[in-house]
Amino acid sequence: MSGKDELSTPLTAVAELSDKALENANSVLKSGQLFRYGENTSDGQFVAKLETEFAKYHNTKYSVGVNSGGSAMYVALISAGVTKDDVVLLNSFTLAPVPGALENIGCKIKLVEINENLIVDVIDLESKIKLHKPKAFLLSHMRGHFGDLEEIQKLCKEHGVLLIEDCAHTLGGEWNGKKTGTFGIAGCFSLQTYKQINAGEGGIIITDDEDVAAKAILYSGSYGLHHQNGNAPSKEVFAKYEGMIPNYSLRLNELAAAVSLPQLDSLESINNKWNNIYSTIQNHLQHENIRFPDINPKVKQAPTSIQFFLDYPSERIVEILKNCERNGLKIKWFGAPKAIGFTSTYKHWTYLDNKDLSQTDQLLAKLCDIRLPSTLTSKDCKTISSILLQAIDD
Ligand SMILES: Cc1ncc(COP(=O)(O)O)c(C=O)c1O
Repeated sequence: MSGKDELSTPLTAVAELSDKALENANSVLKSGQLFRYGENTSDGQFVAKLETEFAKYHNTKYSVGVNSGGSAMYVALISAGVTKDDVVLLNSFTLAPVPGALENIGCKIKLVEINENLIVDVIDLESKIKLHKPKAFLLSHMRGHFGDLEEIQKLCKEHGVLLIEDCAHTLGGEWNGKKTGTFGIAGCFSLQTYKQINAGEGGIIITDDEDVAAKAILYSGSYGLHHQNGNAPSKEVFAKYEGMIPNYSLRLNELAAAVSLPQLDSLESINNKWNNIYSTIQNHLQHENIRFPDINPKVKQAPTSIQFFLDYPSERIVEILKNCERNGLKIKWFGAPKAIGFTSTYKHWTYLDNKDLSQTDQLLAKLCDIRLPSTLTSKDCKTISSILLQAIDD
């Protein structure tokens, strides 16, 4: 491979934090007050402000910061009333922390098939709702893919199923002009480094339900200082639960919020950049054996990665990906027999009991995945495509 075909930035790269993020971080570090629930009124201001701004951005009443996206799902589910005695449905294309959040509760997990566009198969969803009578459906917008959220919302409402959205990969994404995370009782976000907002670790729950919000604040561990939350429900709501809810110590820390706030301000522009990278690669990667999932025109994406199906037998896919790697392009593959990095699949989670999702299996066997650092240039997008197309020809 000649020098001109090398990527200017590795696919593992992350963008530098802005001067504003560094300034905020510095002020927190200098103060030494990294804990969100210091007992002075000035303590925890960045977490409170992030909660306020996050709720405003989503046009929801409440938002609660926690220490990871996994914790956000766990706390949202238990705050909505899910217990170990319940069945919870989960779409089969997702990542390990999602069933992990359910396993943490101890509830029964039933997986639902996905369709050829990597979104939940609504027919299978309806039949599994009827069969298993679940308390909740945890809908994971894995790798930014989601479909008609109004249809799913309606279906869940009709059957009395709580809908909780995992929006770890869709911060800023919309269905029909409405933000992801606002279609069910709660939406859960991650602030882990590879997400749209990079705090290292962190998570946020959004909800319009005052009981869910109060319980989430108490479960996350507020030491009685819940009025310091950016948009806490009234005292009367807390009074219903005080003393009854254990403190699970899953709080968001002040430093994480300090670096997150400026990133929320620039979210729209960074998402535009990501959308541009996605469509540039897609436009270059035209080949009869490469298929991209269709994106419904009502979907506004917020992609931090790109997925496509390589229509070849597994052995050939392995060869193509090895060829790409030799040329500096590491493509992930969901068809590997063993979990590698961030591409584990439901088959790898041996604690789950359902293993018979033939539709999902056929799709994942051909599914490839490239993480897209926001620093990729248009030349990098072309290089990615040329390396892959050349590897297919070879
Ligand atoms: C689809 C999905 N949901 C949820 C999470 C959980 O986020 P966290 O790593 O912050 O726990 C992740 C993490 O990568 C994820 O990929």
